[in-house]
Order: sequence, then C-alpha cells, then structure tokens
Amino acid sequence: SKGNYKHFMEKEMHEQPEVIQHTLSNYIDFASGKVRLKSELPFSFKDLRRITMSACGTAYIAGLVAKYWFERYARIPVDIDVASEFRYREAPMEEGGLSLFISQSGETADTLASLRYCRENGQHIASIVNVQESTIARESDAIFPTIAGPEIGVASTKAFTCQLSVLLSLVILAARERGKITVEEEAELVQAVSELPKFIRQALKLSEPITHIARRLSKVDNILYLGRGTSFPLALEGALKLKEISYIHAEAYAAGELKHGPIALIDESMPVVVIAPFDGSYEKTVSNMQEVAARDGQIILITDEEGAKHNSLEDCDVVVMPKVPEILSPIVYALPIQLLAYHTADFMGTDVDQPRNLAKSVTVE
Ligand code: M6R
Repeated sequence: SKGNYKHFMEKEMHEQPEVIQHTLSNYIDFASGKVRLKSELPFSFKDLRRITMSACGTAYIAGLVAKYWFERYARIPVDIDVASEFRYREAPMEEGGLSLFISQSGETADTLASLRYCRENGQHIASIVNVQESTIARESDAIFPTIAGPEIGVASTKAFTCQLSVLLSLVILAARERGKITVEEEAELVQAVSELPKFIRQALKLSEPITHIARRLSKVDNILYLGRGTSFPLALEGALKLKEISYIHAEAYAAGELKHGPIALIDESMPVVVIAPFDGSYEKTVSNMQEVAARDGQIILITDEEGAKHNSLEDCDVVVMPKVPEILSPIVYALPIQLLAYHTADFMGTDVDQPRNLAKSVTVE
C-alpha cells in the first residue's frame, strides 16, 4: 500500500535511507571498516583485466557511474553499453573477464541476451538484481542482490540508489584486492559510506524548495541537464526520469559537450539543470553554466554549500545539498533529481506510477 503517500514513487523515494542501509549491511562490515561479502566469489578482482557491463535504462546509468568508480579507484578498465546494442555488437572478448549485469527485475530481455552472449564467450557472469528469483539471477555465477524491496513505480528510484550502493561496495573491494587502497583508506571509505543514509535523509528534506522549481518546470516544453564526471550519468538519469513521468522533452549532455552543438538550443525559454557538487569538476562545469547564462538560459544549479558560495550568477535557482564525500555524490545527488521529476509530473497531473506507454519490466526486445 502507498500508506500516507500520494504515489508509490513518492513512497519509494522516501524508503531510500532504510533500503540503502539494509543493502549496504549485506556488503560491508561497518564494525571492522571493511567490505565483506556473504559468500566467496567465483572470480577474483585481483586478476581481472576488464569488466564488461551491460544493462538498460536506469540500470545502465548505474553502470555508467560505476565505470567512473572502477576505473578511478580500482584501476580496472570497464566497457559499458546498453544491452540492446551490446547483444548484437559481436564484441570480441578475452576469456576470463568479468561481465556484470544490472537489472531491477532480472527479466529484461536485452540484458538477458547480453548475459548469454558473455557466457558463450567465456566470461564470469555476475549480476546485480533486485528480484532474486529472476531469470538473470538464475543464470549468473554470482548474484549481488539489492535489498530495495518491491519497486512498484515504473520510474526506478530506490532500485537505482541500491544498485549504486552495491556497485560502490564492489569498487572498494576491487580496489583493496588490487592493492590500490590501504587498510586505512578502506576504513575511511567505509566510514564515508556509513553516512549515506544520513545524507539521503538530508537530501529528502529538499523536497519543498524543489517543489517551487518544479512548479515552473511543469510549464516548459524542453529541459537540458548538464554534468561532468559522475554527475554526467546523473544528468542522464535526471532527463530520463523527467521524460518518463512528466512527458517533458529532456536531454542530457556532458557539460563539456555543450559547445559542440546543444548550446545552439539555448534561449530564455530553455531551463538548464546543472549538477555540480563542489569537486574537481566544479569550476569547469560552472564555466559551461556561464555560457548558458550569457544566452539567457534559466539555470537550476544543484550543488553544495561550498558550490553555492562560489556561484556568482545572481539570476539562478540553487538547490543547496549537504556537503558529502566526493565518492558518495552520485548516490546522494540522485535524490534532488528524482524529486524534481516527481514534483514536476505531480503538478502536471500525469499518472506518475504508471506513465503512458511504459511497462515496469521489459521482457521483449
Ligand atoms: O528491470 P530492469 O532494471 O532491467 O529495467 C531496466 C529499465 O527498463 C528501467 O530501468 C527503466 O529505464 C526505468 N523505467 C527507469 O526509470
């Protein structure tokens, strides 16, 4: 039941602190400051030369975030593709690699076909699934469950942040096994991760200021999302969520791509959502944002206190997030993006939980 919530999506967004906590407790031993899996892995991150990921929709976007993490923290090259492309691409694969599939339902046809291709090509098969009795889970050598509970809303919210939580745990494990972090560094990362539920709770409190912005967005026809680094996949997720439930046309670009085309779209009628925590990419993203402002685009900046302090634009909306360790930002910044899509759709009065033309589980290609 929806309890006191208007939609399942709203309820599921608010469940995130709890289900993330629950999911993490399956991967991390907070007392010892270490990642600890419940069962042995049939492969070792230490010897891996490559990870190949494939998935669809929001699950694909979770994988895209993880590519940045695995490459940066564990120094493993990652290939990632949408499953509908990967399955027919005839990608050459070196035997003994790890193929990682991400799926809430565990039944997505293209993801399953990609899994079978990788099995035929000598890969270790691992999957991150929310439905543990699913076909993808059954056909995997290793299963990494998300403990998000049933997700009813067609727009994925809690499954996404739980997928990211599992992926982050695996990244820390891989970094340790490959000797890229020390015991102390692992403990520091685990300490940061232990604060995730708290940060998610703080981000949920931004629902009210975001509602004001959403009221205005509900009247526009097009919206652009920009981000750099791990905020780029977040921009993709923001645009996907918004179009799914509000039917507003939204597109996402890596902020650095702006001047390679999309800037031609900018005028006073174009809102641009800029995702920019105060990290190593902040200055560059903000300079892209100024190019938008110079062409009268309306900016909605999602940043933290430090980022808000450094922002010199007067005429822009700022959503001020809690300051979080850099590695956590893709998980915490998922919240304002979900809330923005949700409230915009709610103002428009669409069927948020069952948007037109969409199915929760896509079992045909
Ligand atoms: O069940 P799966 O995670 O495999 O589903 C993948 C996509 O169909 C799914 O994430 C879809 O994009 C969502 N509706 C996004 O909100």
